[in-house]
Amino acid sequence: MGYFADLRQYLTRLEEKGKLHRFKGEVVKETRGVPEDQRKSFLFENVVGVKGRRYGNRVLMGCPASREILALGLGCSPEQIKEKWSQACLHPVEPEIGATGPVHEMVLEGQDLEKSGLESIGVPVDTPGFSGSVRTTTQVVTKDPETGTRNVGQYSGHFAGRREMRLAIAPPHHGAIHHVKWSRQGKKMPVAIVIGATPNITLAGATPVPYGADEYAIAGGIAGEPVKLVKCRTVDLEVPATAEMVIEGEMTDQMEAHAAFGDYPGYVYEVGNRFVPIMRVKCITHRRDPIFVGFDIGYPPTATTVLECVAIEASLYQHLKRELHMPGVLDVACHYSGGARNYIVIQMKKIAPWDPWQALNALTGFGAMLGKISIVVDDDIDPRDPEAVNWALSFRMQPHRDMRVITHRSPLLDVSAHPPDCSNEERHFPSPSGASALLIDATRKWAYAPVGLPKKEYMEQALAIWEREKLPKLDLRQPWHGYHLGYWREEDEDNAQLIVTGEYQKLWEKLGRNRVPLRGPFEA
Ligand SMILES: Cc1cc2nc3c(=O)[nH]c(=O)nc-3n(C[C@H](O)[C@H](O)[C@H](O)COP(=O)(O)O)c2cc1C
Repeated sequence: MGYFADLRQYLTRLEEKGKLHRFKGEVVKETRGVPEDQRKSFLFENVVGVKGRRYGNRVLMGCPASREILALGLGCSPEQIKEKWSQACLHPVEPEIGATGPVHEMVLEGQDLEKSGLESIGVPVDTPGFSGSVRTTTQVVTKDPETGTRNVGQYSGHFAGRREMRLAIAPPHHGAIHHVKWSRQGKKMPVAIVIGATPNITLAGATPVPYGADEYAIAGGIAGEPVKLVKCRTVDLEVPATAEMVIEGEMTDQMEAHAAFGDYPGYVYEVGNRFVPIMRVKCITHRRDPIFVGFDIGYPPTATTVLECVAIEASLYQHLKRELHMPGVLDVACHYSGGARNYIVIQMKKIAPWDPWQALNALTGFGAMLGKISIVVDDDIDPRDPEAVNWALSFRMQPHRDMRVITHRSPLLDVSAHPPDCSNEERHFPSPSGASALLIDATRKWAYAPVGLPKKEYMEQALAIWEREKLPKLDLRQPWHGYHLGYWREEDEDNAQLIVTGEYQKLWEKLGRNRVPLRGPFEA
């Protein structure tokens, strides 16, 4: 079987794997913790508004609620995603443009668009009681007016009326660069918002790639076959033929302030003086019985942090390992609690002592302002386990020697960088506002004595006894047995052997031969 033809085939697969829950009863869209391996996506099949309005669309949430759910959509295991991404970047497959596709089954334009427009779509509210927004958070397609190259980026479009949206593209992102170029030419930028694409396209839209690279071609590289596209009806852009829904439009010369909404750092975003460009909707096309895909966003973990973690890990891994020729990089781990961007751990097998700093410096130069706290750990530390990372921080680094603070960073949405309601200038450097980053080399700087756990053979014996006694099932984490870290004398080995063979007397006699007269702790 080839790759999923559409979102619906992917949902069937999730259902087969017990990873999808269908809500057939009514769910009001304005109001609504399990371990990661038990999380599911939710398909709401009967969506109503708080005022009783019935919506013609279903709503998919929590997709991806876990790395496993996303990996099922990419045809690999969670551990294989970054390598699959890397290979797709190295071997992209050009998309194919066809005459028509299911996304054009239904068309809303002219008078119909005027009458109901965006209001006709049942959209979930992210943080009911706090959020002043309903929005799409999916793939936004734009083109560079000078080169004609396309970009697909995952950005939010906040509804601002039946036919208008505030399009929130942060300045470093490629859609924002396109918008500046169109505006300089005195033209309105065409935009297409894609809802309900297949997971390969979702990942490509959310993952930072070099400016000019075609996300559809990388998505084709993941699928191993071309993404099928169709031309939009009212703008010169291409969208996936089997997407659930597309909102076509163009940017206006107007801006509007946001209302508050939840965002990835886990706080409601303070928006007082942030003005955002307005897009005018020209047409909405969709499949019959369409599925609106919502991204829950706010206190992590959310589908947003799951997707962003995977996207940033894949992109950084590819950048460090393949583009910057750092074969020692083994893994990149973004943590949900860091909102995916602010706490990043790189695992590496260091060859030269400066390897960790090459990785840390490269990370700070990466376009997307990643890694407010960036840590490099050795290959024996699980970069995804906070306990293991804290252990490395506690005993493999010295603050005066192994840490650097760098300044003049964009705060993005970091609420600790400046108080709410300050001016744009006050958000950035110089101090006291502005954002900085902490780089930490938490790798061993010299050989250490072994990890203080029993040798593997003794732990294996203990595990056999544990099982025989039917004690509670164990979830072993690294390290679960002792191992060497380079420093170990023959004499240490001999002493340890005397203990495990019960030859205590021999050991005590041996150590006793080296006795010296009592002296104070600081006397030579
Ligand atoms: C769920 C989700 C929501 C996002 N929302 C936004 C957003 O509203 N604005 C934005 O500029 N970036 C947002 N991002 C980040 C961008 O999608 C990401 O950095 C992507 O690489 C940008 O693509 P580009 O480099 O082609 O511009 C979001 C990412 C995810 C996963």
